[in-house]
Amino acid sequence: MLFSPLTIRTATLPNRIVLPAMVTRLSGEDGRVNDDVRARYARFAKGGAGLVVVEAMAVHSAKSGPLLRISGDEFLPGLKDLAGACHDAGPGAVFPQIIHFLKISRSGWRQTVDTLSLEDLDAIVEAYGAAAARARTAGFDGVELHMAHAYTLSSFLSRMNPRRDAYGGSLENRMRLPVRVLERVRSVVGHDFPVGVRFVGDECIRGGYSTPDARVMAVRLARAGADVISLSAGGKFEDARVIEGEPLYPYTGYSGDRCMPGAAYADGTNLPIPEAVRAALRESGLETPVVAAGKIGTRALADAVLAKGQGDLVGMARALLADPDLPRKWRDNREDTVVRCVYGNVCKTLDENFRRVDCTLWPKKLGQAPESDDVEAPTWPVGAGLSCSAEKGRVLLRWQPAADNQAVYGYEVLRAEGDGILVHYASVRGVSQRFEDARVAGGVPYRYAVRPYDLAGNRGPMSATVSATVRDGDGDGQPAGDARAVDAALLDACTGDRRA
Ligand SMILES: Cc1cc2nc3c(=O)[nH]c(=O)nc-3n(C[C@H](O)[C@H](O)[C@H](O)COP(=O)(O)O)c2cc1C
Ligand code: SF4
Repeated sequence: MLFSPLTIRTATLPNRIVLPAMVTRLSGEDGRVNDDVRARYARFAKGGAGLVVVEAMAVHSAKSGPLLRISGDEFLPGLKDLAGACHDAGPGAVFPQIIHFLKISRSGWRQTVDTLSLEDLDAIVEAYGAAAARARTAGFDGVELHMAHAYTLSSFLSRMNPRRDAYGGSLENRMRLPVRVLERVRSVVGHDFPVGVRFVGDECIRGGYSTPDARVMAVRLARAGADVISLSAGGKFEDARVIEGEPLYPYTGYSGDRCMPGAAYADGTNLPIPEAVRAALRESGLETPVVAAGKIGTRALADAVLAKGQGDLVGMARALLADPDLPRKWRDNREDTVVRCVYGNVCKTLDENFRRVDCTLWPKKLGQAPESDDVEAPTWPVGAGLSCSAEKGRVLLRWQPAADNQAVYGYEVLRAEGDGILVHYASVRGVSQRFEDARVAGGVPYRYAVRPYDLAGNRGPMSATVSATVRDGDGDGQPAGDARAVDAALLDACTGDRRA
């Protein structure tokens, strides 16, 4: 089913794999498409995803950091090139995600929806309509309206919406602006152009809404003309970590964790959300397809999502960042060559720091996932060994480089706690032959092994297993991959705890 096509109004997706929008910070402050942006999305398209949703681009000209823009006709030539490059590279459909956001400042102040006049709301509706028309003119196959996370339309949908007029209070009122936007977009783009919406099915904040409201929203938005509903979770300002002198980043609190669930969360942790929303649509006689997302990284889980009716499409952001060729590899039954995301969230930390969002496993300076059709796996030189020492609350692993006919791309680090089984715990770039494990508890024995992989993802043999125990009371238990500061060590490995 994963590789069966799905038609969304006029766009036929060749398979059910979706790249959900993922800011890359490649555009620069001018908001224009450049070579890096084009190359990044062409690479995703080439990998074979059925739908590539291009990262959020602004419908208005408010100041922001590096962010793509679709707020004026001057952006059209670049957007045309982007749509064309994706279509030339792969078979999937391409939709841009379009966004309106409110002002934030370094003092921690942020504009809230109750400060917007009725004229401001009219302008937002118009800006979305004009941007969607540009998306069509640029040659995209559809458009996705961003109603998720901490941004304007999501803040209207929110239970924390403080307005006291017809745009706040009841769920019907909170939906008024998003529905107006959708209706305006539909009237501008016509009936032969797909329009999707993305919103959160659970705000994941105290006092926020959850699936009972999301079920109603989905039905209302589908009836108002949404052709596909993509569900996210959390990502709110309300629980964002306050850092003096820094603008609030809405993914630093618990709701941010739920939006981009890290290694400590279960695979598919947010699936009850699309499942509940899709059921509401079907109960209302609506066949609107639903995109499920949130730590879906294995073929078995993706198949299960479709089989259990938890979604019609499977959204994978970080898994496709780590390996854009994942759809082709799955289609060809080569899952064992997928370079796996370990959900250590280094990419999220880069975004948070306005740095270009690369997967930290990619070869440095390439700025892209490598490409290769090689089938020969790496090998260990005779006598190569893995050594391990425990000091200052950390375990340090070192090994000799593996050999490959092309190049060793990286090493999977496998770890077992006590008598447990070895699981894929971290991945390290091929240039590095060391890994420091700071996430250890004192007094607990750990076993480790290392496995090399090449540019095509072919895995070599597993090394011998070594063990270590740090002194009781010495382990600091700190996760290595989720810190705000981006330091050099962080950029050489991504640490998670996936099964081998
Ligand atoms: C670096 C980064 C940037 C993101 N930017 C966006 C965005 O522009 N719009 C959006 O709706 N979601 C954004 N997301 C959320 C993803 O689309 C996705 O919902 C989330 O990462 C969970 O899916 P995953 O577990 O497959 O990564 C972003 C996620 C990451 C990691
Ligand atoms: S940086 Fe880490 S979390 Fe992000 S895509 Fe790469 S492996 Fe996954």
